[in-house]
Amino acid sequence: MFQLPRGTRDFKPADMQKYRYIQQQISEIFQRFGYEEVRTPTFETLDLFTAKSGESIKEELYDFTDKGGRKLTLRPELTAPVIRFYIDQLQMEPKPLKLYYIGNCFRYDRPQKGRYREFWQAGCELFGPNTPEAYAELIALAYTQLHSLGLNNITVNIGNLTIIDALFTQLNLTSEQKQYLPPLIDKVLYEDITHALQDFDVSQEHITRFINLLETTDIDHLSTHMKNHQEAREQLNLTKQVIELLHQNFQITTCQLKMSIVRGLEYYKGIVFEIEAPSLGAEKQLCGGGVYELISLFGGNDVPTAGFAIGMDRTILALETEGITFPNPEPEIYIIPVDQTTIPQSITIATMLRTHGYITDLDLLRRGVGKALKYANTKHYQYIIIIGPKELEQQAVTLRNMMTGEQTIVPYNDLLSKLE
Ligand code: HAM
Repeated sequence: MFQLPRGTRDFKPADMQKYRYIQQQISEIFQRFGYEEVRTPTFETLDLFTAKSGESIKEELYDFTDKGGRKLTLRPELTAPVIRFYIDQLQMEPKPLKLYYIGNCFRYDRPQKGRYREFWQAGCELFGPNTPEAYAELIALAYTQLHSLGLNNITVNIGNLTIIDALFTQLNLTSEQKQYLPPLIDKVLYEDITHALQDFDVSQEHITRFINLLETTDIDHLSTHMKNHQEAREQLNLTKQVIELLHQNFQITTCQLKMSIVRGLEYYKGIVFEIEAPSLGAEKQLCGGGVYELISLFGGNDVPTAGFAIGMDRTILALETEGITFPNPEPEIYIIPVDQTTIPQSITIATMLRTHGYITDLDLLRRGVGKALKYANTKHYQYIIIIGPKELEQQAVTLRNMMTGEQTIVPYNDLLSKLE
């Protein structure tokens, strides 16, 4: 009768277990790297997101007017909200300030596999440092999180928007022309880039050189083309140091320079990076982030900021594609009252076992022992406790070990030690 809104999903218990598992792993590693968790509202004022990106971003937003006439939107991401929060309440915190978050985001995207209108991000923002080791640690953190989940087939690509901008300047592009190119570069559409640059009256020689430089993984080679760009040379040097630290000290060998990483969001400046799982096809980007500037735009006292967000939905898809099995905690004990006279004692035993931390369930359907046993079997309970009038009389239970088939009568007082 009712349909799910387009681009949204329901999650079965088995799906939720996967989300819980990766959420717990990712949080643990954020904490191991010194990050602390924060939470912001699911909706924000619309202008938080239009401030940087202009009205055009509204196409991608779930924005609405509330009953008080306020223009609001479901959050499409959490960087702008966390910066708002920082300026409101956290500016005086000692630096570096390391914050992480896990939450749902909403984008009015065209849904397909790996792209949803409601999806989950686990991300972080780093306030204060702008050293090569800070950026290398940030990238290493994202990689460590995905790798520790069991993903082996992932690559880390590092780009730099200051260098891209210097390359654009060399081509004498107007600011409008500069805005046109990044989506094409992001998708590595070299033919379309060539046509666009021809339309912008760039010579074939310069077009070829530009595409070669986009393709290169050799920083020194890029450097020779940046002689007149002081800022770009500094950024190249920074990028080089970050990659060296990642290779040599963080021991992450699968990261490389990739100038075509330009990022979709408008606030980045300098180093940017993405982690992808090539096995996922079109929507293969698991993580994106970089250095950005939002604080001064939002009226705060400027400090360097950088961060990233991992897409949890795509991470699960990648884990499934790589055939990684998720830990699946088995239910432990199922209690079957043989008839109605033993229900109260069955509840007492269930309560005692739950108090001691056992995952314990009780037959609530008053079905016969045969049917209840069949159910417990399909649910893979490890132990079954049967309580009938005979057991009640003996102040004991029948305990069946489903793994060995062994069945014994155990007095109440010995039950815990026997289970241990
Ligand atoms: P983003 O690249 O837009 O960056 O999103 C981060 C990740 O969220 C993507 O790599 C992808 O895995 C996932 N994602 C994005 N859109 C969808 C979607 N429609 N369906 C499923 N997954 C999706 C940001 O959001 C920045 N705030 C990251 C950041 C933090 N930069 C600095 N700090």
